[in-house]
Amino acid sequence: MAQRRRYLFVCVNRRPDGTPKGSCAARGGVELHAELKEMLKARGLAELEVRACTSSCLDTCWAGPTIAVEPDHYFYGRVTRADLPEIVEALAENRRVERLVLTPDDFVEPRELKKRSP
Ligand code: FES
Repeated sequence: MAQRRRYLFVCVNRRPDGTPKGSCAARGGVELHAELKEMLKARGLAELEVRACTSSCLDTCWAGPTIAVEPDHYFYGRVTRADLPEIVEALAENRRVERLVLTPDDFVEPRELKKRSP
């Protein structure tokens, strides 16, 4: 296997039910990773271009499910299954899906979560 051009780190971290911060697994991260992996393979990108890996918490839980795209160094957030075809197509065309890219503000933990989360 070759070193891929890009690696996608799909957060699949799971916290106990009822945790205020929630988790990407509770928002479908595990299923997103599996589906993304299949779609990259079907699109012919998996061998040389893009590998979808699982990740632990990327510390943007409130904007999850989150996917870090490296080495481009941007994050997709609030990703749903419906977004995956667009994400895969953008990867094939060497571009980003701008509407899903997290902004600097998205990396700031909301104040109401700071006091409540363990
Ligand atoms: S649980 Fe996914 S970013 Fe924290």
